[in-house]
Amino acid sequence: MAKKVIICQGRSCVKYDSDRVLAAFRANLVPGVEIVPCGCLGQCGNGPMVLVEPEQIWYDRVLPEEVPVIVKQHLQRQRPVKKMLYPKFHRD
Ligand code: FES
Repeated sequence: MAKKVIICQGRSCVKYDSDRVLAAFRANLVPGVEIVPCGCLGQCGNGPMVLVEPEQIWYDRVLPEEVPVIVKQHLQRQRPVKKMLYPKFHRD
């Protein structure tokens, strides 16, 4: 299954600049990884929300300037960025 980065563009996340997060992923494309804007992911108030599939890894409150770290560690080296994971779905 192809890897996808799903970036919420729902109203709540856009309020916290998720359009800039989307633009940052598009500016850091990784071969074979699809960038997919989507509607509300049901986690409003914690955005911008980013979901990586197929492994179902969630990041919350993502800043545009944090995108290169996710790209480098997670998308290129397959190592999710632990300190940035969404605690609701990822507990240590
Ligand atoms: S608008 Fe992004 S989670 Fe609801």
